[in-house]
Amino acid sequence: MAFRVLSRKTLSLSKNGGLGYGNVRHLQTFSLPDLAYDYGALEPVISGEIMRLHHQKHHQTYVTNYNKALEQLDQALTKGDSSTIVKLQSAIKFNGGGHINHSIFWKNLTPVREEGGEPPKGSLGWAIDNQFGSVETLIQKINTEGAALQGSGWVWLALDKEQKKLSVETTANQDPLVTKGSGLVPLLGIDVWEHAYYLQYKNVRPDYLKNIWKVINWKYSGEVYEKECP
Ligand SMILES: [Fe+2]
Repeated sequence: MAFRVLSRKTLSLSKNGGLGYGNVRHLQTFSLPDLAYDYGALEPVISGEIMRLHHQKHHQTYVTNYNKALEQLDQALTKGDSSTIVKLQSAIKFNGGGHINHSIFWKNLTPVREEGGEPPKGSLGWAIDNQFGSVETLIQKINTEGAALQGSGWVWLALDKEQKKLSVETTANQDPLVTKGSGLVPLLGIDVWEHAYYLQYKNVRPDYLKNIWKVINWKYSGEVYEKECP
């Protein structure tokens, strides 16, 4: 995940009583990751206009607000301001979650000419067949749960590292998958916020879900699966 580290020199009392710089603290902030493909490369499944807005405006806003909240947190920690520290938690969860989720989502997509939509192979393909019967059955389950999710959120194919099992999960708003369980690893996340599809699919979320599988990057999911579940 893209990030940068800002060094902050804090004033402190030196041993001889004078003011000096000490305790160099490092505040890690984040930046918008580049996409591995052009905005128009997922057409006709997802329009270039949606991809540009989604990446440059929506994801960028999560990054900006996440960094702002982290900087405020850093200041509140320096001051020992507990009420501000607690107050910032929701902004950190929402905007940090937005950054985490979208960073995964971009990797879950790839143009058709670069194997977009090619069914999962290797151990992930085997695990899906073993647990769900077929990839088609899994897709149906994800689409059903994604369409039924009320309001905005995400639908996931997760690996439960402790149980060594796959599961389909949903999260509300920008909650990242880890909020459903610390052992859950996101293999595939689909954004079902209206901003992900409305310009092209209007309010018909099921059509967006049906089509998105043509540009899903199963190869990436398979690599994560093999790394986390060797
Ligand atoms: Fe989004």
